[in-house]
Amino acid sequence: MSILVTGGAGFIGSNFVLDWLARSDETIINLDALTYAGNLENLAALDGDARHIFVRGDIGDFALVSRLLAEHQPRAVINFAAESHVDRSIHGPEDFIQTNIVGTFRLLEAVRECYGRLEKTAKNEFRFLHVSTDEVYGSLEQDAPAFSETHRYEPNSPYSASKAASDHLVRAYHHTYGLPVLTTNCSNNYGPWQFPEKLIPLVIHNALAGKPLPIYGDGQQIRDWLYVGDHCAAIRRVLEAGRVGETYNVGGRSEKANLDVVHTLCAILDELSPRPDGQSYREQIAFVADRPGHDRRYAIDAGKIERELGWQPAETFETGIRKTVQWYLDHAEWVGNVTSGAYRDWVGRHYGGQH
Ligand code: NAD
Ligand code: DAU
Repeated sequence: MSILVTGGAGFIGSNFVLDWLARSDETIINLDALTYAGNLENLAALDGDARHIFVRGDIGDFALVSRLLAEHQPRAVINFAAESHVDRSIHGPEDFIQTNIVGTFRLLEAVRECYGRLEKTAKNEFRFLHVSTDEVYGSLEQDAPAFSETHRYEPNSPYSASKAASDHLVRAYHHTYGLPVLTTNCSNNYGPWQFPEKLIPLVIHNALAGKPLPIYGDGQQIRDWLYVGDHCAAIRRVLEAGRVGETYNVGGRSEKANLDVVHTLCAILDELSPRPDGQSYREQIAFVADRPGHDRRYAIDAGKIERELGWQPAETFETGIRKTVQWYLDHAEWVGNVTSGAYRDWVGRHYGGQH
């Protein structure tokens, strides 16, 4: 038995692969294009482990995906592969359209063809699980109820629009072709191996490097934070027991304003790795121009996955964020490796004029 995971060298995908193989001997075929966000260092613990088969390639490569499906006959495909950073989608949407929409379409086509050839029992057991985001629902007013699975799609960035399109394709392949799909829409993740372009690892990295901690606009935008290990557990649970054709919202009931998140990070760093001058890392906070079209608030109603599948997050924001800061302090070499070269070009292009 095996499963095929796409994007398994990225942040959430690599956490998923590591967690999966820590719990099971079922082989993972890991298809990843190794864009700037994909990093085999995340999976170094699996070097020489026959249960992990890594293949460098594009989800949009129909011939490659078809060959992998024919060769390994996985019982499930879990699609993590995507361009995932909102700011990059604003600077250049093209890659988002190519991977998130065209890539998902070609992946679905390859899976559909392979699924059509399966025997009855294998067909009954097969699942295509699409990993998506709460950003497809758009932005919430301050006192509006959290996003449920029936909230209308109202994506506001090129990233969220491309993810919304991929969700619709997945849905259509179920309704039209009977492909046994599952979709998860999760809130903001944080934890080990997250590329330091996203708020939490960026702030930890900049703080330790003595650089400004950039806060967009007034810093009062709200995100609903979930520790990545809890997201991986939710995906395993949906794969195991989710109802075919359904979508499941995943979130930690942990809404925080960005400025509060950054204050929390500064307080933990002040304690675990104080600045040599005795000042707080808060001194480095810098308010910068807002993100164009910045969504004000996200919040997930995770009632469905809790009720139907008994999933609950194991970490609170307080326990998860402390573990995460400690992880980054313990993995300075990984951070050093991923923040060289191309990373510096991105930071220069995106924040350049403002620092
Ligand atoms: P990431 O950017 O860290 O990793 C994406 C991975 O996909 C990388 O390893 C990259 O090399 C790979 N990839 C990109 N294009 C590819 C292609 N064409 N073919 C094959 N591989 C390709 O992203 P992440 O934060 O780990 O997110 C994973 C998934 O979860 C995405 O679909 C994202 O939309 C979704 N998601 C992310 C969050 C979050 O907070 N990070 C929350 C909810 C949902
Ligand atoms: O909600 C789920 C989504 O969460 C995922 O689908 C995306 O893949 C993931 O990147 C994340 O999107 P966000 O845009 O919410 O995450 P990001 O870490 O980029 O930003 C979090 C908040 O912090 C957001 O309101 C913007 C703000 N921010 C971000 C950066 C990088 C800043 O204020 N300053 C910054 O420098």
